[in-house]
Amino acid sequence: MKLKTQVGIVGAGPAGLMLSHLLHLQGIESIIIETRSRNDIESTIRAGILEQGTVDLLRETGVGQRMEREGFRHHGIELRFDGAGHRIDFPSLTGGKSVTVYAQHEVIKDLVKARLDAGAQILFEVKGVGISGLDSAVPKIRFRKDDTDCEIACDAIAGCDGTQSICRPSIPAGVLTAYERVYPFGWFGILCEAPPSSAELVYALHDRGFALVSTRSPDIQRMYLQVDPSDRTENWSDDRIWAEFRRRLATRDGWAPKEGRIFSKVIIGMRSLVVEPMQYGRLFLVGDAAHVVPPTGAKGLNLAVADVRVLARALLEFYRSGRGDLLDRYSESVLRRIWRTQRFSWWMTSMLHRFPDSDAFQYRVQLAELVYVTSSRAASTTLAENYVGLPME
Ligand code: DHB
Repeated sequence: MKLKTQVGIVGAGPAGLMLSHLLHLQGIESIIIETRSRNDIESTIRAGILEQGTVDLLRETGVGQRMEREGFRHHGIELRFDGAGHRIDFPSLTGGKSVTVYAQHEVIKDLVKARLDAGAQILFEVKGVGISGLDSAVPKIRFRKDDTDCEIACDAIAGCDGTQSICRPSIPAGVLTAYERVYPFGWFGILCEAPPSSAELVYALHDRGFALVSTRSPDIQRMYLQVDPSDRTENWSDDRIWAEFRRRLATRDGWAPKEGRIFSKVIIGMRSLVVEPMQYGRLFLVGDAAHVVPPTGAKGLNLAVADVRVLARALLEFYRSGRGDLLDRYSESVLRRIWRTQRFSWWMTSMLHRFPDSDAFQYRVQLAELVYVTSSRAASTTLAENYVGLPME
């Protein structure tokens, strides 16, 4: 089966769906293909913090109604160390900005629904995806759908297919340079049935490692513990998990998390990765297909959406005036923000985790940095303005 569209999008994650949505609003047609099922992408648990700019974009483009109803606006976070909490207030440090707690899979549900309601083609559960003709004017995406061989001819391909991207390795050897750092720890994430332990997120550094208190709803909480990346969830009984949270989050005035039935346990690895450049011929890599941040600060989705904005504008210029210069500069344009966000995620991660080889000196320097960040207005502003999201250039 031969199909034709303007922009062929590989991957129905936040990047691919948002790109398709923005292009549609400008009258540009796209087809999305996805190897997973709709149910799978709509139920996979990921992070849940939306920057102010991401929230504004969802709202301004008509896909923010449920987020406005069901999301939670947070005006600050707590940094906890040495047995005490210290609040960072976002609006007073950033000219009124805040973040919204709304899970990534809820954003995906809203975007899938908006795209399908507008008559878009999202082809789920495709197999054997390959791309070709990247340095021609008509690149192609091949795949099988329900045992039928299919091919989409398009003007450009957006590789929005995540860390396991098939688009990225389709770029000839020698074109890309990868910059990577793997951290010697992972996060053990749980979901539990309990009321919120705290009105705002708590990021804690403890001698035994990092802990994070997040939330999903008044009845469901999300919490994380730093663990060895090779550890296994089977090693952690519910009792052991709660004992560890109680220890790492304890304050001198007796704070304790609200405990409840744990119904999800995962261990995720942590790394920083950027590949440069993010384009080759008519292929443009977007989001996790080109860069990964460690989870501290929850920048992944927000950074993908920032790439999408730039690519959508460049494609619009291409179709409106035939000019390809914005497209040619896509990689250069998005990499500035990507590196600034990489720096922030690396910094938050380094400040808040115990490194296995770190000695007492390093730990004391980390504590001193936390004292500085929570007591100097200049240093608090550095954290706040990055956490709510740097302005789009
Ligand atoms: C969540 C994840 C993060 O990485 C973070 O920094 C804050 C919150 C979350 O899943 O809720």
